[in-house]
Amino acid sequence: MRILIIGASGFIGHYLLRRLRHESDYEVTNTYNSRAPEDIDQSWHRLEITDSQRLDQVFLQARPDVVVLLAAIADVGTAERAPERATEVNVDGAAQVARLCTQYHARLVFLSSEYVFSGDRGNYQEDDAPKPNTHYGRTKWQAELAVAREASQWSIVRTSVVYGWPLIGRQNLAATIIERLKNNETYNGDTNTYRTPIYVEHLTEDIVRLVADYHPGIHHLAGADWINMYQFACAVAEVFELDGSLVTPVHAFTDVPPKTEPLEKPEKDLRPDILGLDCTQTSHRLGIRAFSVVTGLQEMLA
Ligand SMILES: NC(=O)c1ccc[n+]([C@@H]2O[C@H](COP(=O)([O-])OP(=O)(O)OC[C@H]3O[C@@H](n4cnc5c(N)ncnc54)[C@H](OP(=O)(O)O)[C@@H]3O)[C@@H](O)[C@H]2O)c1
Repeated sequence: MRILIIGASGFIGHYLLRRLRHESDYEVTNTYNSRAPEDIDQSWHRLEITDSQRLDQVFLQARPDVVVLLAAIADVGTAERAPERATEVNVDGAAQVARLCTQYHARLVFLSSEYVFSGDRGNYQEDDAPKPNTHYGRTKWQAELAVAREASQWSIVRTSVVYGWPLIGRQNLAATIIERLKNNETYNGDTNTYRTPIYVEHLTEDIVRLVADYHPGIHHLAGADWINMYQFACAVAEVFELDGSLVTPVHAFTDVPPKTEPLEKPEKDLRPDILGLDCTQTSHRLGIRAFSVVTGLQEMLA
């Protein structure tokens, strides 16, 4: 089976590629944009997703049976600061990839996000109505619609915070907490920000199932624990045997300074951020299980 991973040079792509390379059934073609991998070989192609001619060439060379689309402006703040660019990359790019998938009779597995939901209550199910309130979330929702409209065979994967050892020179949540606590620095864990964090190896294992067999529709792949960022940081401290007293609970929404004082963040960013995904339907459909944060962190430690 020929697989094309668009955005393989990113965090999730790195782990997905490593997993697929261990399976002899797959011939994998990969793309990067600005960060060429250290072990680059002829399976890698440089791609700017908004360059439709280049995208055509990549498809022609890869002749994929399955495409995994990871490429995106995946950072909420970056998408907020450069909204037009985020729309071009995340929405127009996804739509063009979906069209090419139809043309090549390829299945599309598209990575979306819990940010398609509003963040008012958390634990969203697959069939809950999206209502994004960030530009990033809007681009992912519009991309989902484009994928469903343009691709003839598609699976959409929504996920939550993904943690694991980051790529060199990059950061992610668990690694940041570990580094701070190891350096005896405090970590402020927001008690109003809820997620269902998933270990990157668990996520990529489940994505491989969607690559191997066609499961159409929308899937939620996330961890079993719906927890706030203070609880997550405490779990990191416990599993990695670091000083948990350095983790401080902060209440980003309720600890707002009085209006007369200057706000550090724009007021609209001070809302409770209650996301997280309920994966029950997906787990039954795919025959998989979601793992706890402690299990994921223990595997990360090992
Ligand atoms: N990580 C999470 O917690 C999380 C949570 C929910 C959903 N997701 C979704 O999962 C996907 C992968 O996330 P990630 O964490 O692996 O992100 P990442 O580490 O930032 O990687 C993004 C990938 O997209 C590529 N890319 C960016 N702009 C591009 C462009 N204009 N043209 C072509 N390629 C471009 C990057 O290439 P270069 O690095 O070479 O420039 C990289 O390979 C994204 O769609 C994201 O929205 C991630």
